[in-house]
Amino acid sequence: VRRLTVAVDPPYEVIIGDGARSELGALAEDYRRVVIVSQQRLLDLHAAAIPVDLARATDGDEGLWFVLIDDGEGAKSLSTTEYLCRAFASGGLLRDDLVIAFGGGIVGDVAGFAAAVYHRGVAVLQAPTTLLAQVDAAIGGKTAVNLPEGKNLVGAFHQPTAVVADTSLLSTLPDREFRCGLGEVAKYALMPEGDAVASIIERDLDPILARDAEVLAALVAACVDIKADVVARDPEEQTGLRATLNYGHTLAHALEIAAEHSLAHGEAVAIGLVFAANLARNLERVGDEVPTRVVTTLENLGLPTSVSRLDLSADEAVTLMSRDKKSKGGVTFVLPGSRGLERVDNPPRAAVEHALESVGVGA
Ligand SMILES: NC(=O)c1ccc[n+]([C@@H]2O[C@H](COP(=O)([O-])OP(=O)(O)OC[C@H]3O[C@@H](n4cnc5c(N)ncnc54)[C@H](O)[C@@H]3O)[C@@H](O)[C@H]2O)c1
Repeated sequence: VRRLTVAVDPPYEVIIGDGARSELGALAEDYRRVVIVSQQRLLDLHAAAIPVDLARATDGDEGLWFVLIDDGEGAKSLSTTEYLCRAFASGGLLRDDLVIAFGGGIVGDVAGFAAAVYHRGVAVLQAPTTLLAQVDAAIGGKTAVNLPEGKNLVGAFHQPTAVVADTSLLSTLPDREFRCGLGEVAKYALMPEGDAVASIIERDLDPILARDAEVLAALVAACVDIKADVVARDPEEQTGLRATLNYGHTLAHALEIAAEHSLAHGEAVAIGLVFAANLARNLERVGDEVPTRVVTTLENLGLPTSVSRLDLSADEAVTLMSRDKKSKGGVTFVLPGSRGLERVDNPPRAAVEHALESVGVGA
């Protein structure tokens, strides 16, 4: 089991490994009541080991209970938040008690948000069960729910008390969800500080794709190391540093909307990374070797490098990208360059169109 620290105030541990969930009991020990927020599918697959540990920690059934939410982006809503807070209240959850979010990014975001607002904030322990949540969503305290008007529009910063990422849980993840996480892993590998991630991918590609829990633990830890460092230096997204984690995401969000979510987030991020690398090259921020390396890494991970069967013009893509939340009017990208990843506002249109063509948009 690997232990990393996210050095915010107060600092918290991220415990990563094959079997890391056995630590949940000890982490919940000091709490009188513990509520686990999860989804039916996860309990069907993975409940067995977890309540046993926790029941011991909380004096049996009385102090421990489950609240289940629906699957899918629609469950990340204010109505689920209300449902959770009412379940917390009727179960007698108080200020000093604990919420455990056991699930992917959906569970983590909505349970984290409910914990942030219930009693003006109760402790939340993130126990992520998808690769995406283990390398990204569960770390850093961003919680949010969606409105019909847009994703993640209502939220709060609420750092967890700990994160427990058990990589053996990833064996049951549907292939598409696993690939989704690999898109974020690729992002870390291709960041200037991503050498450790990149070398694990190079050395252990087959065990990664076979979901070897030990190798995945090393991979997740290398990604979390990068995110933890960025979060510690910019915990509430004030310096712009944390925005560099959006590498590849400006076009990705536009593609997800244009494809009406038939393109998985991780696939969209992969294509967004190729676009960003090509745009950086077109702007002479980096040489040809950068886009080449991006494409090779993504191909190794089995991720797409251009869009197929998506009828999207360059104009439409730019309009969608200008709605990105990083944008302050116009279009904003996170691009590599000699000083690492940087925010770049409104680059020349020809460079953008050329980069869009390189991923099959408007070609
Ligand atoms: N807070 C943040 O910083 C942050 C960062 C990135 C993404 N997110 C959010 O995360 C969400 C996406 O999260 P996600 O990709 O984890 O999706 P998800 O939570 O919907 O999980 C994907 C699917 O896999 C199932 N599942 C989860 N773990 C499983 C397991 N071990 N075995 C089998 N099935 C399992 C879930 O029930 C679900 O059907 C988005 O809403 C996104 O906005 C948040």
